Amino acid sequence: MLRLDLANVLFERIGPKGIDWPSALAAHARRLEAARDALWQRKSNPAEFLGWIDVPEDTETLRRVLRFREARPGSEDLVVLGIGGSALGAQAVAAALGKGPVRLHFVDNVEPEPILELLRKLEPSKTLVNVISKSGSTAETMAAFLAFRRWLEDRLGPEWKRHVVVTTDPVKGILRPYAQAEGLPAFEVPPAVGGRFSVTCPVGTLPLAFAGVDLDNLLAGARKSNEQAGAALEHNLPAQTALLHHLFSQKGHHIVVFMPYSTRLRYLPDWFVQLHDESLGKMHDRAGQEVRTGTTAVRAIGTTDQHAQVQLFREGPYDKLINFVRLLSPSEDLEIPAVRGLEALDYLFGKSFFELLDAEAKATAHALAKAGQPNYTLTLDKLDAYHLGWLLQHLMWQTAFLGELWNINAFDQPGVELGKEYTYALMGRRGWEVLAQELRAEGVE
Ligand code: PA5
Repeated sequence: MLRLDLANVLFERIGPKGIDWPSALAAHARRLEAARDALWQRKSNPAEFLGWIDVPEDTETLRRVLRFREARPGSEDLVVLGIGGSALGAQAVAAALGKGPVRLHFVDNVEPEPILELLRKLEPSKTLVNVISKSGSTAETMAAFLAFRRWLEDRLGPEWKRHVVVTTDPVKGILRPYAQAEGLPAFEVPPAVGGRFSVTCPVGTLPLAFAGVDLDNLLAGARKSNEQAGAALEHNLPAQTALLHHLFSQKGHHIVVFMPYSTRLRYLPDWFVQLHDESLGKMHDRAGQEVRTGTTAVRAIGTTDQHAQVQLFREGPYDKLINFVRLLSPSEDLEIPAVRGLEALDYLFGKSFFELLDAEAKATAHALAKAGQPNYTLTLDKLDAYHLGWLLQHLMWQTAFLGELWNINAFDQPGVELGKEYTYALMGRRGWEVLAQELRAEGVE
């Protein structure tokens, strides 16, 4: 189960900054139901970019991915060349559930030293390179592909083609025709699925198949979230958490802290930050009015960041909503042993590490509530593919619901375009000469 504990947002717990949940839910019922119905109705229109809702139903594509994985038994390392939505989902799930035997590497930046370090370390004949770009035009990913392709060809000759697999749009961009011309295996990013919503399609599932993740259960968990997202409000978890975000943003809580109590979930906040910020930070609403929506997602990990950020969360401004993620049971546990001479620590003797982790999570949430800082907890029965798939899809739904509540398009990212165009101009791309001149005139070269 994925459950919501919202006790620490209520008046009774946090005082005047809190909410009365039954009346808040009742007051927003019509808007939330309209949002739910609009999302389900629009999903068949590809222009709405709601294809991620149906992707977990597509078990045929998953079978193709698994067959491809079986056809590459000699791979020991898999390098993902991708950035943003083309890397973060697989990275988060692989860190949480990856069992190997293949090692995954993510090249999601163009800093030369780490790329060189990886190229020097890898054995090309045992390496598979998965270039992932929906647009097929992202400078960082394409630069990395040029380098890895050359490295493979220099070392393997014509065999290099067996060591590359492409994931891209079925039609658009330069990677699709290139893969066809070279005879490279290629998987699709469905046109109606945006990068940050793509973890359950081959963008995520292909690398995760090599990491030994139970993909059937990951998709089954995502389908469970779909079931909830179509349900009546009292069972509709994504509508409920979206409402919490909406209510607290209206109260001036413009920062959203996403804090799993799990080192295995250490990359999940990175994926969430991109999903939330890129989807919801928008200048214009759907009617073209300037609205400047958005709350800023911040990464944290429990217990680690209790010793880094919780001081601020507790005593700093009342501008945050903290979303904890807690596991209800460990997959294995370790007893804390008694040691003679260290009796000052006897409160730990015989307890388990999971008991301590759990106590710290509960204690921190309560301490924040005592300080009037709103926080809620999503609990997962355990960390497995089913529950993680459920959580990922839940967070995508939450984002979509918030987009509806704020009347914005949660599926585009116009704010990142100008920076890309300036980069093309600075790099001397053909067709960008005028922009390059403008930049020079503005002192940027
Ligand atoms: O969520 C998004 O759409 C973006 O973060 C993209 O995933 C990112 O910009 C990479 O794009 P592409 O897959 O086209 O290379």
